[in-house]
Amino acid sequence: MTATTAEKKKVFVETFGCQMNKSDSEHMLGLLDEIGYEPTPDIKGADLMILNTCAIREGAEDKVYSYLGAWRGYKEARPGSLIAVGGCVAQDAGEAMRKRAPYVDLVFGTHNLHRLPELVMKASSGEPVVEIYQELPEDLPETPVHRLNDISAWVSIIYGCDYNCTYCIVPYVRGREKSRSPQSIFEEVKSLAESGYKEVTLLGQNVTAYGHDLEPKLHLGDLLRQLAVPELEAIKRLRFLTGHPRDLNVEIIDAVRDLPQACEYFHIPIQAGDDRTLRRMARGYNVDFYRRKVDEIRSRIPDAAITTDLIVGFPGESEEEFMNTVRLVEEICFDVANTAAYSPRQHTPSANWDGQVPEAEKYERLRYLNTVVGDVSHRLNKRLLGRKVEILVEGRSDRGMNRLMGRTRTNKIVNFEGPDALIGQLVDVEVTAANPWALRGALKVGLTV
Ligand code: SAH
Ligand code: SF4
Ligand code: F3S
Repeated sequence: MTATTAEKKKVFVETFGCQMNKSDSEHMLGLLDEIGYEPTPDIKGADLMILNTCAIREGAEDKVYSYLGAWRGYKEARPGSLIAVGGCVAQDAGEAMRKRAPYVDLVFGTHNLHRLPELVMKASSGEPVVEIYQELPEDLPETPVHRLNDISAWVSIIYGCDYNCTYCIVPYVRGREKSRSPQSIFEEVKSLAESGYKEVTLLGQNVTAYGHDLEPKLHLGDLLRQLAVPELEAIKRLRFLTGHPRDLNVEIIDAVRDLPQACEYFHIPIQAGDDRTLRRMARGYNVDFYRRKVDEIRSRIPDAAITTDLIVGFPGESEEEFMNTVRLVEEICFDVANTAAYSPRQHTPSANWDGQVPEAEKYERLRYLNTVVGDVSHRLNKRLLGRKVEILVEGRSDRGMNRLMGRTRTNKIVNFEGPDALIGQLVDVEVTAANPWALRGALKVGLTV
C-alpha cells in the first residue's frame, strides 16, 4: 500500500560523479518510493539523507567527508533522521567509512542498490548497517526509478569495466562488465516513449563494449537499430556515453549515420596524445589508432561532434609528452575536452610509480591545456554562427529570466528567448552568438511548435 503525501517521509539525495551515479540516484529514489519516501530539495527537512559518492579523484573523495561533516549537524538538529552513503567511495571504504564518520547510519555499495529499502528499514531500527557486495548479483533484479527529468532519460545498458587502465579506480569499484539484455532495455525505452520522453541516453562506463558478454553476442550498433523502430518513434533522440576508442567500430558509426534518432555525437576519451604515456596508461591503442577512429567518424558523418577526456601530469609525463597532448587537441579539434590533473588512486598501479609530477606542475599544465581546449571549442562553435540547428528544449536557462535552454544533436548548449510552451519540444533556432561553452540562438519564426 502506498502512503499518502502527508504520511510520506522525505529523502534528500546528493550525487557526485558521472551520469551512471546520477542514474543510480534516480533508482534509489524509485526504490525508496516503495517504502514511503518522497524526494525533497530541502536537506534540513529530510528524514533520510543519501550521499551518492564518486572516487575518481582524490578531490571527489575528500568532498565526501567534508559534506558528511556538515550533514552531521543536520542529523543532530532533526532527531530520528538517518545518513546513508552509497556509490563508489562507499563501495571501496565499507566499514572504514563508519570509522571515519561514525554518525553515518548506512553504508551501501554500487552492487546492492536493489537492497536499499531493506537496508534503510534495518538502519531505521537504530542499528548501523554496512553492506557491500563484491560483484553485481547474477540475477540482478530490475529496479524502479524516479526520474528527475521528464524530457531526457538515462538508461544503463552495461555495468562495470573490464579494462585496467593503470590510473583508474572504476574497475575496482564498479566490477566486471555485465550487459543488460536487449529485451529489458527495449521495455524500459518503450515505457519512456509512452510516458512522453523525447531523448534517451544509453549509459555505461564502456558503452561501446555493449553486448560482447551476451548470448548471442550483440554490439551497440545492433542495439541502436533495435531501438530506432516505429514502435518507439516518440523517442526522437538516442545518445550513448561513454565510449572506449578500442571498441568503437564501424558498425556503431554506421548505425549513428543511418538512424535519424541517433545523435551525431561521440564521446571517446583519448586521455593523452602521446604514445609512451598511452602505453603506460595501458589504454590499448596509440595516437594513430585514435586518428583512424576520428577519420572513420568524420568520413561518414562530417558534422559529428567528437568530445574527449584528457589527463595531465600522469606519472613520468615529460614536458614534451604533455605538449604532444596539447598538439593533438589542436590537430583533432575536439568540440569539448574534459581535462583533469592526474590524481593517484588507491588500488591502481600508477599511484606507486616513480616520477610523480609535482602538484604545481600538474596544475600549470592543466591551466595551459584548458586555454587551448577553450580556444578550439570556441573556434568550432563560431563555425555554427548563422546556421540553423535543431534543439530539444530542456527547460528555463539559468542565464536569464526569459531564456530557454536546449541542446543541439551534437550536445551543444543553446540559450534563446522563447515561451515555456516550447519546453520538451524540438525547435529550430539560428545561432547568433558563440562562446567556448555555449551558443546563443534566435527562434526561427514559423518553424516553432
Ligand atoms: N570509461 C571511460 C572513463 C571513465 S572515468 C574511459 O575509458 O575513457 C572518467 C574520466 O575520469 C576518465 O576519462 C579520465 O579522464 C578521468 N580519470 C580517471 N581516473 C583518473 C585519475 N586517477 N586522475 C585523473 N583523472 C582520472
Ligand atoms: Fe577506467 Fe579505463 Fe575502464 Fe575507462 S576504460 S573506466 S578509464 S579502467
Ligand atoms: Fe566516479 Fe564511480 Fe562514476 S568513481 S566517475 S561515480 S563510476
